[in-house]
Amino acid sequence: LRVLHVAAEVYPLVKTGGLADVVAALPPALAAAGADVRLLLPGLPSIIEAVQGLRAVLDIGPCCGALRVRVLAGRLPGAGLPVYVIEAPQLWQRGGSPYQASDGSEWPDNLQRFSLLGLIGARLASGEVDPDWVPDVVHAHDWHAALACAHMAEHVPTRAASVYTVHNLAFQGLFPLPDAWQTGLGSRCFSPAGLEFHGQFSFMKAGLKFADKVTTVSPTYAREIAGHEHGCGLDGVIRGRGGDVVGILNGLDEAVWSPARDAALDARYDLGRMAGKTACRQALQRTAGLAVDDRALVLTVVSRLTAQKGLDLVLSALPALVAAGVQFVVQGTGDPALEAAFRMAQQAHPGRVAVHIGYDEARAHQLIAGADVIAVPSRFEPCGLTQMYGLRYGTPPVVRRCGGLADTVDDGVTGFVFDAATPAAFEQAVRRAAALRADAPRWAAMQAAGMDRPLSWEGPARAYLALYVEAIEARAQRPR
Ligand code: ADP
Ligand code: GLC
Repeated sequence: LRVLHVAAEVYPLVKTGGLADVVAALPPALAAAGADVRLLLPGLPSIIEAVQGLRAVLDIGPCCGALRVRVLAGRLPGAGLPVYVIEAPQLWQRGGSPYQASDGSEWPDNLQRFSLLGLIGARLASGEVDPDWVPDVVHAHDWHAALACAHMAEHVPTRAASVYTVHNLAFQGLFPLPDAWQTGLGSRCFSPAGLEFHGQFSFMKAGLKFADKVTTVSPTYAREIAGHEHGCGLDGVIRGRGGDVVGILNGLDEAVWSPARDAALDARYDLGRMAGKTACRQALQRTAGLAVDDRALVLTVVSRLTAQKGLDLVLSALPALVAAGVQFVVQGTGDPALEAAFRMAQQAHPGRVAVHIGYDEARAHQLIAGADVIAVPSRFEPCGLTQMYGLRYGTPPVVRRCGGLADTVDDGVTGFVFDAATPAAFEQAVRRAAALRADAPRWAAMQAAGMDRPLSWEGPARAYLALYVEAIEARAQRPR
């Protein structure tokens, strides 16, 4: 079974969030299960630099506003997964993030940039780009890759099936409708029955409407987005797909997130030999400038600082929890107001609150290993990966019951789950954690239950393979 994954990020080359972790881990897991998997990525500077043995496969010429587009092929460093890279210097050779300039503004030509990603995905599916490797399934991730599904359904002749995964319905890829012709799609796509969304053109809708199967990253989020509250205006479209929309819980990349083999840690540990965790905890208190205190509950947050993540609850509950002896170690970037509020909390509580505004992969490992609990109080969370890292590292998560958080953490067994999105509910959950930690045998049992929970990509990879087969059947039955 040949499967092409199309995505805008892959860890460690380009990462703005969990999408990159998934795109790095799922393809190798599918390959280990017997699939023939390749990846299609945009030619961002860090990708062109890192991909090994790049050679030209096809010169496309002018396309999507770029004067010269070429498709290159090479291998990812590390496991050596085969990868196609779109070389279009005018569109991709620039700093900043894949989506935004360094000042935080969206790139003004994102419509062209991500039209190109989807179009090349579809052309790979038709065999036009590389006749030697034609996929049976194209698996597109998030709005960035969604147009592949529309091209495959509408224009580009292919027998391949399409699967679309929603990692976050809140980011939809909306553009002015009058610009939509630049996508290369036909005008019948531009009506409300097509990809129009309240007067704009929606990339997200291209995946939701045209993919043979739609997935999202947890069963609970799959249910939530079919309803008004979390449907972001697309719940009708999602309900319209009925059983074609399924939730498959993400896994955890054990090559990157295993306390027994983690080179970023001061000491390694595992279930049954937990002394290393105590060493990590002491190292964290020292390096973060916290009082070295065995009794304090050390709570960490490693997160994008955005409204989604519910960190205002942490800020509101923080003074009372500090007074109760809790220590906070926070690392994140994002909303300037949240960044400023966390900096102020650090100033107000020296030795009790340590805040690092920034993105630091190694330090994220040190925080998650060294802390006693990890807080993920999200207002919504499609899956969430950091709570799984917490489970694996013997750092019970304190989470709000929503999306993938509800599907991965068992209240009182592997962590602490609260319902209301209020500071009081969060505070109470943290107080329960502090009380349980004071009871060493019960705490050790909770850590062990989390560390024991199967979180690898093996199960999810099997579920995707089964879904690919269904997508191929659905594709074969669809009128052309
Ligand atoms: P989302 O994708 O919504 O941001 P996830 O929990 O799925 O949430 O994934 C977030 C990923 O980004 C995790 O791998 C997490 O460790 C990482 N991350 C988030 N913020 C930071 C940061 N400031 N420094 C290092 N890693 C971070
Ligand atoms: C998105 C979601 C997050 C999920 C990640 C990977 O960024 O916000 O919940 O874990 O994608 O699927």
